[in-house]
Amino acid sequence: MSNLIRFGVSIEENLLTRFDDLINDRGYKNRSEALRDLIRDTLVQTQLGKNDDTEVLGSLTLVYDHHTRDLTERLTNLQHDYHDLIVSVMHAHISHDDCMEMLMLRGKASRIRLLADSLLSLKGVKHGKLFTTFPAKEITGKNHHHDNKHL
Ligand code: NI
Repeated sequence: MSNLIRFGVSIEENLLTRFDDLINDRGYKNRSEALRDLIRDTLVQTQLGKNDDTEVLGSLTLVYDHHTRDLTERLTNLQHDYHDLIVSVMHAHISHDDCMEMLMLRGKASRIRLLADSLLSLKGVKHGKLFTTFPAKEITGKNHHHDNKHL
């Protein structure tokens, strides 16, 4: 077994309370075990598609505070860097502080993962998630040729 390392985590009190409630419900005996499972799950999910050239469809939802310094500029710059992946963007101002943005994506799995990770890790992005799927033809298996022009 590899070495166990202890580390400190700073977290808002009410977020930790809700986390404790969740892990109690799921039967965890302590936070460490729950955190280890969360980390493993995240690593597995992230590994999917990392070196993958498969063409996929994706949607990325972001909720962020537009007052965060430089955030809107960073979001815009990144979206221009990956413009070849972005089919459409929808934006809504959902409160005085917060914006919700949904990106419709199409392209190589590895690049979509890269774009999603770059956006989700920006300071001020409070929550978000990437959903990926395949063109319908590949799910139903009716057509097995991989002519990307027809995606
Ligand atoms: Ni907005």
